[in-house]
Amino acid sequence: MKQVDLGTQGLRVPTIGLGCMGMSDFYGSSSEAQNLSVLDRAAEIGCTFWDTADMYGPFTNERLLAKALKGRRDRITLATKFGVCRGEDGSWQGLRGDAAYVKTCCDASLKRLGTDYIDLYYQHRVDPETPIEETVGAMADLVKAGKVRFIGLSEADPETIVRAHAVHPLSALQTEYSLWSREVESEILPTLQRLKIGFVAYSPLGRGFLSGAIRSRSDLKAGDWRLENPRFSDEAFANNIRLADLVGEVAQALDVSAAQVALAWLRSRDLPIAAIPGTRRIERLEENWASQDIVLPAEHVDRLEALIAQGVVGDRY
Ligand SMILES: NC(=O)c1ccc[n+]([C@@H]2O[C@H](COP(=O)([O-])OP(=O)(O)OC[C@H]3O[C@@H](n4cnc5c(N)ncnc54)[C@H](OP(=O)(O)O)[C@@H]3O)[C@@H](O)[C@H]2O)c1
Repeated sequence: MKQVDLGTQGLRVPTIGLGCMGMSDFYGSSSEAQNLSVLDRAAEIGCTFWDTADMYGPFTNERLLAKALKGRRDRITLATKFGVCRGEDGSWQGLRGDAAYVKTCCDASLKRLGTDYIDLYYQHRVDPETPIEETVGAMADLVKAGKVRFIGLSEADPETIVRAHAVHPLSALQTEYSLWSREVESEILPTLQRLKIGFVAYSPLGRGFLSGAIRSRSDLKAGDWRLENPRFSDEAFANNIRLADLVGEVAQALDVSAAQVALAWLRSRDLPIAAIPGTRRIERLEENWASQDIVLPAEHVDRLEALIAQGVVGDRY
């Protein structure tokens, strides 16, 4: 198993974690029994960096993880998030980062997760109405209280990262990063490198697209959130499918899967980075986990990057 140190505070995680969002939200229905079997298998093979958020479900994803954590809490590095407010009915209620809210969310997450500490607590989205110093100050209080071990932000800009890190050291920034989402490379990754903050790449398989398993809108079931996402419009597929095809060609040449190429590409970056691919299937979990042993030859990296440089159609959101 390969591990990476995120930040300078002592957080060490496997380079491949498990994104749990799709088990409860956004990507269509799934079976709880199957999800729990994926989580069991993840724990067995060492894929012990689990990612959730209060708003996934909403709230049901944390409750699912509570079941999987029983009897093995100390072997899992548990990451959850607050700050994107949703009602029990799934309604969207804006962003919050005020100190009182941070503390209330943390207690609620601890209760749902059935644990007395969170390993990595992120602000899911920065609240433009609350100074980041207030939010991170409240997160630092949670560290002092022993409720949280390490803190991070998600999708924050460089200025916010710098200000937050000055209040309490951030261990990680979590943001989308994959072959077709490289926006972080220009300013965010250099900022993290300078400040020695770790990086967690979410949607590392391009929400499934880079695996080649989703080749058109008809591969997505009604109710799948991706049908609303600009990257999954007919126009976007018409252009971007070249990218999935090339990932597939590289995979064939190396006798690995396309998903493994996408994950190995992330690991070819010269950065302390952990990826958290999401899956509800044991065979895919094992496949993604095995990508840790794959090193992409430079000529394949160059080929992939040359094609991406020609442009990806559709915004991330
Ligand atoms: N901070 C944030 O704002 C944010 C936003 C989005 C996501 N996240 C986190 O990042 C995690 C991962 O992101 P994601 O789930 O959006 O996208 P992803 O990991 O890029 O892709 C997940 C999709 O790929 C499929 N898949 C997984 N492994 C595969 C394989 N080996 N071959 C073929 N298909 C495969 C999954 O389907 P099956 O489930 O059917 O296998 C699912 O549809 C989430 O679970 C969540 O924890 C965070």
